[in-house]
Amino acid sequence: MPAFFILLAVSPAISALGLLLSPPLSYAAGTAGLVCGFGGLFLLYQDLLKPFKTICSSLRKPGTLNLPPVTDCGALCHMAELMAAHDEAHTREVASARRDLDKMRQDAAECHEKYTIAMSGQVMTKDSLHEAARKLRLLAADQAEQERKLAGICPELAETAFFGGLTTQWMDKVAAELEYCENYLAQMNAFLGDTPASSMQTETAREEEFFQWTPSYSTGVPVIDGQHKLLLSYVNKLHNGLRQGSDSVLLLEILDALAGYAFTHFTTEEIFFTYTDYPLCHKHIEEHQSFKNKIMLFREALLQGKADVDLTLLEFLKTWLIEHIQGMDVSFAPYVAQHHSIALKTDDSAAGGAERKDRTVPHLPDHE
Ligand SMILES: [Fe+2]
Ligand SMILES: [Fe+2]
Repeated sequence: MPAFFILLAVSPAISALGLLLSPPLSYAAGTAGLVCGFGGLFLLYQDLLKPFKTICSSLRKPGTLNLPPVTDCGALCHMAELMAAHDEAHTREVASARRDLDKMRQDAAECHEKYTIAMSGQVMTKDSLHEAARKLRLLAADQAEQERKLAGICPELAETAFFGGLTTQWMDKVAAELEYCENYLAQMNAFLGDTPASSMQTETAREEEFFQWTPSYSTGVPVIDGQHKLLLSYVNKLHNGLRQGSDSVLLLEILDALAGYAFTHFTTEEIFFTYTDYPLCHKHIEEHQSFKNKIMLFREALLQGKADVDLTLLEFLKTWLIEHIQGMDVSFAPYVAQHHSIALKTDDSAAGGAERKDRTVPHLPDHE
């Protein structure tokens, strides 16, 4: 039986006994009754109320349950053990839920990034289709004109299958197909939402980006600009992975995707070189190659544990891309525009409809 219970039970009995006795024994019995009463209350506090108070205050802060020593627990010992076990299980559940939430956030960011890239690619494809259809229409019109002239000069030849309108009709048909594809893509864009450059990303999200696209990076050639935007988004993806503490395997995957896309983009530019009179193509290709070598060396060092994906790497990628885009790519763009008879457009002009007229093919020294 608990000591506090005995003392509290005995205290009124001793006091009542004091009433039956004559002084000074009655005083002694009264004092003893009081001592027993206060002693009982003190033990009750020690046994029940103090550990109960400690447990209550600990439970107010989840995960910080500090149990009093077993000897202090008294009657609450068993209850406290149960609560401690429950608290530990709860802490484990919260930690597991946090991990799941982080993973879901990472997956959502990944999906958003893929969606952004897919949308950019779709817009780029739409622009290319539009351009191809426009050129085919021009070619068809030119062909029709040539046929009319030929009919005036040599009517027999003009009546043959090749010159008799088949080529023109075929080009018109292909142009119509391209326009159909372009419209279809435009409808898909409208259904899926705006392009990443407009409303898909909120202002806040864009402000948080490590590498933001600005009109000063625009070469004016839609295909090249689209690919540059995708490259930027890969750098941002790598930065997000680093910021969220992603493991090295995931960071290496992102770096590989970035490098792979950069190499594809370089190939696109180098194919353009072969169709233009761009005099600095060798120097430009050398710059691309130097970047490729640096990335491959860095990747080797990463696999050997001699390097890490960190802010230094991100700063290198950002600086290299800005300098290369604003230097070599911007100076090469007028040759593409001249060869493909397209007007250079910046992001601003695309939105406002004004064409960039201040960029023409510059006079560049011959390369060795
Ligand atoms: Fe380039
Ligand atoms: Fe480029």
